[in-house]
Amino acid sequence: MDSKSIRARHKQYLLPAVANYYEEPLVAHEGKGSRLTDLDGKSYLDFFGGILTVSLGHANERVNAAVSAQLQRLSHVSTLYPTVPMVELAEKLVSVAPGQLGKAFFTASGTEADETAVMLAQVHTGNQELVALRHGYSGRSLLAQALVGHASYRATPSQVAAIKHAPSPYCYRCPLRLEPKSCGTACAKDLEELIRTTTTGRIAGMLAEPIQGVGGFITPPKDYFAIASDIIRKYGGVMIIDEVQTGFGRTGKMWGSQQYDVEPEIMTMAKGIANGLPLAATLCTPAIADSFKASTISTFGGNPLSCAAASAVLDEIQEKELVENAARRGAELREGLERLQRKHPKTIGDVRGMGLMQALELVVDETTQDRTPNARATLQLFEETKKRGLLIGKGGLYGNTIRIAPALNITAEEINEGLKVLEESFAAMEAP
Ligand SMILES: Cc1ncc(COP(=O)(O)O)c(C=O)c1O
Repeated sequence: MDSKSIRARHKQYLLPAVANYYEEPLVAHEGKGSRLTDLDGKSYLDFFGGILTVSLGHANERVNAAVSAQLQRLSHVSTLYPTVPMVELAEKLVSVAPGQLGKAFFTASGTEADETAVMLAQVHTGNQELVALRHGYSGRSLLAQALVGHASYRATPSQVAAIKHAPSPYCYRCPLRLEPKSCGTACAKDLEELIRTTTTGRIAGMLAEPIQGVGGFITPPKDYFAIASDIIRKYGGVMIIDEVQTGFGRTGKMWGSQQYDVEPEIMTMAKGIANGLPLAATLCTPAIADSFKASTISTFGGNPLSCAAASAVLDEIQEKELVENAARRGAELREGLERLQRKHPKTIGDVRGMGLMQALELVVDETTQDRTPNARATLQLFEETKKRGLLIGKGGLYGNTIRIAPALNITAEEINEGLKVLEESFAAMEAP
């Protein structure tokens, strides 16, 4: 068995829509910490962690020990029975969650967590219409696809009419063609007109990511959520903050929403919660939880193995002060990326993000007015970094944004190593 034969069988048996990175996709085989090894034995420094999901690095000992012990004890009963791992995790999450979030519901994916959140908002407010953001991503169910603000992720036309997409707080490509320094956060203020012109005037809420992940780590201005949440609540809605990518210390605070002045009534989380085991949670206020009267069940929701992993993740984050590490290492990473931008000012149009969630937006020529997205350079950078043993991520509507999000326990040496590879790779790309 080698990479070549696995690639051939992947092509034969999986949907072609399951796209892989790289001209010749690497077959991931083993991992330890921030290192990943492919089936041919080549080792890589992992700066993307399975899409911000392997939050403590591959094969983390504490997580693996917790999962192994739980596997010997009990691996599944569904939500029909309370279990120790599920209850302990709910209690831990509530204790670190912001504001009034006192109740949890577990599912197996971010998609389901967002679905649950929308359902709760609709049931609680009695309103149906929802505001989402262009460039946002919420998952792959029909409702989640309707929430998504990227045409390429919609397999069918939206079948949910009650979703209105507001302009993204995408300062580098301001949809309102304004200057961030003087715009007065007009994109947030526009929500009022959106609601008054395109809805019945009473809405269920707004669903938004603190930093738009799939969108290319689009980072809203500091006052965006304070303005947005005032408007949403004025029209009867609740704030649903999607922390699927930004949660669990990723941005240098426990929750991405804590970087902004907003306390959500509903919060969703997945990805980094359980270091790669399938788990998601929707947290809400007790009043919202009490409004939900229908029966509900999630067969795999709150699975004991995933919950045991998530408890270990939270304990490790707290004991090893990994939120602080994300802030410190994130600052070093950011400094290195800005240095790189100074070296390549024509191609690296924007550096953005927070903590260990940093992006580079690549353009054909930064000095031109339209800053044409450079998807070709992005693909080239992927090949150059792969050659040199570094894994990075990609995002953005135009496929021209490099996403960097290593494990929260990454070391200063590993950050430097990754930056050096990026530097060499950029230099190689610009060589004739
Ligand atoms: C912000 C956000 N919400 C929801 C989802 C959907 O999560 P999942 O792929 O686990 O269904 C994703 C996935 O990338 C995401 O980034």
